[in-house]
Amino acid sequence: MVEVGLSDIAIYVPPYYLPHAELAAAYGVPKEKYNIGLGNQNMAIVPNWEDIVSMAANAGLQVLEKSGTDPGDIQSLIVSTESSVDHSKPVASFVQGLLKIGTRCRVYDIKNACYGGTAGLVDSIERMSHTVKSPRKSLLIMADIARYGFGNLGEPTQGAGAVALLLEKNPGLCSVDTSLNGVFSQDVFDFWRPTGYAVPFVAPGKLSIECYLMALEGALADFRSNAGIEQGKLMDHLDYVIYHMPFTNMAKKAHRRLIEIEYRDSDLETQEEIFNKTFSSKVVPGLMGAREVGNIYTGSLYMGLVSLLENEREKIEDKRIGLFSYGSGCMAEFLVYHTNTKLGKIIDSLHFKEQLDKRKKITFEEYTQFYSKSQEGVSYSPGEINSMKNQYTKFLFTGFMDHKRQYI
Ligand code: HMG
Repeated sequence: MVEVGLSDIAIYVPPYYLPHAELAAAYGVPKEKYNIGLGNQNMAIVPNWEDIVSMAANAGLQVLEKSGTDPGDIQSLIVSTESSVDHSKPVASFVQGLLKIGTRCRVYDIKNACYGGTAGLVDSIERMSHTVKSPRKSLLIMADIARYGFGNLGEPTQGAGAVALLLEKNPGLCSVDTSLNGVFSQDVFDFWRPTGYAVPFVAPGKLSIECYLMALEGALADFRSNAGIEQGKLMDHLDYVIYHMPFTNMAKKAHRRLIEIEYRDSDLETQEEIFNKTFSSKVVPGLMGAREVGNIYTGSLYMGLVSLLENEREKIEDKRIGLFSYGSGCMAEFLVYHTNTKLGKIIDSLHFKEQLDKRKKITFEEYTQFYSKSQEGVSYSPGEINSMKNQYTKFLFTGFMDHKRQYI
């Protein structure tokens, strides 16, 4: 079987953010609740001249350019999103047009809450490994705007962004043996957004957290049995762990649960010691994106991978990374990436910290203005919008013509 995996990765986040301290002040909540309790510092805010299509295309263009890939060589293009802009036309088709990807390409969307990105990844890898005439290069993009509405308990976990993965045979970044992946699924109502609703419903927040942790336990048990790893040995097997992060401290809760399961025969003091040691060395390097951007739903786990790559740099080479993907509803998967050596070029061209540093801070009033307008109300001329383009923002949404979304 041919080895298939990630050859490159890129991220796009909107150019505006609201500090959680400002959100807390506006609602009369202690800022420590958001900064310490949730572990979040800033949340990405999307201006109404951007949407998931433009963000997906911006991330996609970056990954094609940084890897030197000709768009004509892409034979599979998948966009995973749970915040689609059209009930019929795939987001992937808009992206195909913007990125000038050829017609000999399988193009479609996946919707499966935050798990959609991993669904696309596993399907692509398995298809590419097994079929003789399988695509040589696949582009998988995860793009979402996580919105909960003013005053909702989920509001401080909002975020937006897109992550693009280039998948290839003999991959440059990392490979995955999908036969070992551990899965867990169940019919639950922890987080859902009925058709026609702009913002989701969340079961009492604590219940959604419990669903996530139950799914982690199930997926881990399945992974351990597939990989033949005895209880208590998982941490020796993994150099890093990235969890789906609806808010930064969810990773802390998840890692604590993993340690409790792994070391259930040890006393509480020993568990605490192992937790502290492994959390700071194996989990913290992947937290930057969640802390600075918020939840980006499908791309959240993979923003953790970008954060890890930028923070650890060459230390990440030839390592095993455990990834826990969770999507409400619910579906979860635990998988392991094995990184290659010589990752310098891939890491140097990520520029994630640079993108974060270049963002503009906005006030609570500006945030409410941005998010009170619907996207149908883009009121700028294409010329004005064009001036918003920069090093990262190459595609923008300019409104509708004959009910068709327009981009420049
Ligand atoms: P909440 O009820 O506002 O917060 O909702 P809380 O009262 O539970 O407080 C949060 C934390 O802050 C707590 O820490 C408090 O103790 C602490 P914890 O006990 O959990 O460790 N705190 C303070 N700390 C320091 N100083 C203070 C202070 N005050 C309180 N002064 C919740 C929090 C996350 C539930 C809410 O934001 C929410 O509903 N979020 C949306 C749902 C969500 O993210 N669920 C997570 C699992 S589901 C999932 O991951 C799927 C998802 O990504 C969607 C998809 O798959 O499509 C969401």
